[in-house]
Amino acid sequence: MRRPPQLFTLNKDAARSLQRETIEKYLGAKRGKLRYFGLPSSTLGDAKDWRDLFAEFVAVERGDSGKEWELQHELAFQAFRLSLLGSITLLRGDIDAIIKKGRDSFGKKAVFPFDVVSLDYSGGLFYRSTSGELERLKAMDALMARQSEKQASFVLLISCNLDQVDAGEVRKTIENIRTELARYGLEAKKVTAAYLNHARDEARLKIYVPYFVNQIAAKYHFNCETQEVIFYEGNNKTRMMAFRFYCAFDPRTESLRPPRERLNQILNKPLTEIVDGKPRPNSLGLPQLSSPDKEEITDAK
Ligand SMILES: C[S@@+](CC[C@H](N)C(=O)[O-])C[C@H]1O[C@@H](n2cnc3c(N)ncnc32)[C@H](O)[C@@H]1O
Repeated sequence: MRRPPQLFTLNKDAARSLQRETIEKYLGAKRGKLRYFGLPSSTLGDAKDWRDLFAEFVAVERGDSGKEWELQHELAFQAFRLSLLGSITLLRGDIDAIIKKGRDSFGKKAVFPFDVVSLDYSGGLFYRSTSGELERLKAMDALMARQSEKQASFVLLISCNLDQVDAGEVRKTIENIRTELARYGLEAKKVTAAYLNHARDEARLKIYVPYFVNQIAAKYHFNCETQEVIFYEGNNKTRMMAFRFYCAFDPRTESLRPPRERLNQILNKPLTEIVDGKPRPNSLGLPQLSSPDKEEITDAK
């Protein structure tokens, strides 16, 4: 029996159009010439909605365990149906492994760099390998290294659900943020406590993921610009989050610079919730860290 088609929600469509805004904002000048690397699924939603922006889609699909070919075949067939065969390259296997090795499970090469990388995982971000490594976070580091080797600026899109959030990893990171914010004194303590004690993981991931991406970006000479963080309910009421970044390669110095985005900027970034396919602001009741000092304003550029 054939597998039923992969289905996504109205909220997912709205998230995809917010992602498009980011691509257009930073890469609009290269419209029609862009290269995509990511997880478009067998319905090829990204490729269908963004076909006017891209010259090439490198689509990764691992398929369901034991019948990997099904979704991979479905993806290729959908490319045919949408007359996109000429612009789609299918890589088969796990995207994290492909980023690290540079090849798919059949030895086909992933040719870096890309203009847009969409890590639209169906699952969570905190999977550990048998050796205990946080695989997906390591893959993001490897991705930065590959893009940096080619000195290529890019838009990074990360989507995930809130399965198996690694509470220890996230809490310790927010505690580090609190230490780094010592100059704000009591206020920083109160604000970070609001994140640490919040009932929803969305609040903590809203700062964890941008902080993490800023750190790895800086390690490979990128300046990172974080866009408003998105959250919504996906299929089967799964809680989803979507992050958007522009990573601009900065070749100015060999010695590394600290992340360009300041912690107060990351903390104060607004949140967008998508409900019934419509985005709207929802700060989850989180407090803002008030007025940066003078130095913060002048050195933020
Ligand atoms: C959430 S869907 C992508 C949706 C698509 N970007 C859109 O906007 O419509 C993720 C797709 O990638 C596949 N996938 C998920 N994690 C993967 C991984 N680590 N490596 C390769 N494929 C993966 C899933 O089978 C699924 O088809």
